[in-house]
Amino acid sequence: MITTFEEYKKEYQKSIENPEAFWDEIAGQFSWKQKWTKTLDWNFDEPNVKWFVDGKFNITENAIDRHLLGRANQTAFIWESNAIDVDNRVITYQNLHDEVCRVANTLKSFGVKKGDRVCIYMPMIPETVFSMLACARIGAVHSVVFAGFSSSALAGRIQDCDCKIVLTTDGAYRGVKDIPIKAVVDEALETCLGVEKVLVYKHTGTPVFINKERDIIWQEVVPNALSTCTPEVMDSEDVLFILYTSGSTGKPKGVVHTCGGYMVYTCYSFQNVFQMNTEQNSNDLFWCTADVGWITGHSYITYAPLLAGVSSVIFEGVPTFPDAGRFWKVIDKYKVTHFYTAPTAIRALEAQGLDFVTPYKLDSLKVLGSVGEPINEEAWQWYHKNIGKEKCPIVDTWWQTETGGIMISALAGVTPTKPSYATMPLPGIQPMLVDEKGNEIIGNDVEGNLCIKFPWPSMIRTTYGDHARCKQAYFETYPGLYFTGDGCRRDENGFYRITGRVDDVMNVSGHRIGTAEVESAINAHIDVVESAVVGYPHDIKGQGIYAYVIVPSTTKNHDILKKEIIAEVNKIIGPIAKPDKIQIVSGLPKTRSGKIMRRILRKIAEGDVNNLGDISTLLDPTVVDEIVKGKL
Ligand code: WTA
Repeated sequence: MITTFEEYKKEYQKSIENPEAFWDEIAGQFSWKQKWTKTLDWNFDEPNVKWFVDGKFNITENAIDRHLLGRANQTAFIWESNAIDVDNRVITYQNLHDEVCRVANTLKSFGVKKGDRVCIYMPMIPETVFSMLACARIGAVHSVVFAGFSSSALAGRIQDCDCKIVLTTDGAYRGVKDIPIKAVVDEALETCLGVEKVLVYKHTGTPVFINKERDIIWQEVVPNALSTCTPEVMDSEDVLFILYTSGSTGKPKGVVHTCGGYMVYTCYSFQNVFQMNTEQNSNDLFWCTADVGWITGHSYITYAPLLAGVSSVIFEGVPTFPDAGRFWKVIDKYKVTHFYTAPTAIRALEAQGLDFVTPYKLDSLKVLGSVGEPINEEAWQWYHKNIGKEKCPIVDTWWQTETGGIMISALAGVTPTKPSYATMPLPGIQPMLVDEKGNEIIGNDVEGNLCIKFPWPSMIRTTYGDHARCKQAYFETYPGLYFTGDGCRRDENGFYRITGRVDDVMNVSGHRIGTAEVESAINAHIDVVESAVVGYPHDIKGQGIYAYVIVPSTTKNHDILKKEIIAEVNKIIGPIAKPDKIQIVSGLPKTRSGKIMRRILRKIAEGDVNNLGDISTLLDPTVVDEIVKGKL
C-alpha cells in the first residue's frame, strides 16, 4: 500500500514506465492456481484487451477462502435493515463461505454451469451478495439488475443476455415503502420464456404468486445444500459479470468485466484510495451506501472489501428513514471508520438541516468518500465540516461502470485533496485531455474531453453480444483512445476536475440515464408525437430531467397527460427516470436535416435563454420563442 505522497509519485512513474512489471507485482499478491504467461495483450482498435493471460484462479477463493485461516470469525458484513427495530445480522467470513457455497450448490442443482448467465433482481440484503459470489464460485456470469427498475427494463436485460435463472425476493423495504419484487419478476417473465427457474428469498413475507414448475423458495432449498463447493477454475479473461448501463444512444449496454483484471484492480484501488487498516482484528469498518445494482456496489460492497479482507456494512434502507439522521446514527452504532456515499445524498441531508447531525458523535470516522457525480464545493465543505469534523480526508472518486474501479481520486491522507476535484490518477491510469478533433491538450490550466490512453486491468472488455457497439461507443470517437464521455478540467497543478458528461447521458441523483431511453419511454404514450429530453441543474439531484413533448393540438387536459407520461416512464424504465419537468410544445428546434438542436433545449432548460447562440440554421426559428415563453 502506498503511504506517502513521495511513494505515490514513485509508484505512478513505475506504472507508466513499465506497466507490466508494475501489475505483475500487484497481481502476485493474490492466490492463483496457475500463473499468467503474459501480463498484457492489447490494442484499442478492435478493441482487444487481455490481462494476466492464461492465469487460472477463482475470485471467491481470493475474496473468501484465503481469509479463513485467521479471519474465519472476523465480520465480513454487518447488515443494517431498513427498519430500526429489526436486529442487525453479523456475517463472519466463515458464515459467508458457507452461505455462498450453499447458494452455489443450489444453482448447480438447477443445472447452472460455467458461462451461464444468472439474473439477480434483489434488494440490499446479504443474500444478494451471497448470490453474486455464488455465481462467481461456479463460473456463472451474474447480471445484477437494480431492484428499482420496472418489469419491462428487467425483461430487456434478461433477454439481452439470455438468463436461464433469476434470483429474487418476495418484496423489499425502502423507507416507508413495501415494494413488490417478485410481482415485477413475474410480469417481466411473461416475455422471457427462456427462464427456467426462479429462486425466491422470502424477505418481507408478502404473499407471492408461485409458478410450481418454475419458482422455488430459497428457504426450502438453500439451507439444505452443502456448505462446501469446490471453486470452478476460471481463466483471467473468463467473464465475471455483465452490468447494464445507459449510453447516449439506444438501449442500455451490457458492460462485460472479466475475472483477473477486475480482481486485481478493484482490490488495489480500494486499498490505496481508502487506506484502511486491513490487519486481522483491526477495528476499521467500511460502509459504502450504494446499491449493489450499480457498479459502485459491485466493486466496493461485494468484491474489493472482501478481497482486501475488511469488514463492512450493508444497509437496506434509505438515508431519510426514519429521519434524515439515519446515516449518522448507523455510523455511531457500528463505529464506521470509512464512509463512502454520493453527493446527491449529501445535498439531500444538508437540506434537512444540522439538527439531524448534531445528536451524533461521528468520532469513529477517519475517511470520507464521494462517488457517482461531481461534488459541488458547497456540499464538499458541508461534508468536510459537519461529518468529517475537518479531520477526515475526502476522497472524491471518479470512475465509471466501464472502468470497473476508481480511476482518479486522492489517496486518503496520502495525496492532497481539493474541493470538487477528483485530483490525481491512480497508478496505472493514464488520463489524457483532447479537443473536439482529438488533438491532445497538453499542459495545465486547460479543459477538454477526458480519455484514457493505456489499458488498466479492470477496464470493459466488450458490450455483451455486440462487440461493434463497444468499439463504437468508447474507441471510435478518438481512435487509439478510450473515451469516457466526460468533460474535464486540469488545473494549474495538474489536478483533474470532472465537469460532467459531454454526451447525451444524464446523471440524476448519481444514476446514469440516457436521454434516448427516456425519450423512447415518453414516446410510447399514445398521445405523444415526439419528445426531446435534456438534463438541467438540480439542487439536490445534481441533474433533473426536462422533457419537451409534442402532442396533437386536440389533446385533452395537459395535467392528466403529464401524469400519464410519468406513469409510462415508470412502467418502461422505473421511477429513477421520471421527468421532473414536462413542457408541452408545438414543435422542437430542428436543423433543416431534421436533427434536434439539443444545445438550445439544454440552454433553455438551464434558464440560459439570452445565450442561445446561432439559431438561424433552424428549420423554424420561431419555435424557440414559443419554447422560451413556456419554460417551466
Ligand atoms: C460520473 C459510477 C464527477 C461521470 C461509479 C461518469 C463522476 C459517470 C464521479 C459514471 C466523480 C462518477 N466526479 N463525476 N467523482 N464519479 N461520475 O457508470 O459522469 O454509474 O462518467 O459509475 O458518473 O457513472 P456510473
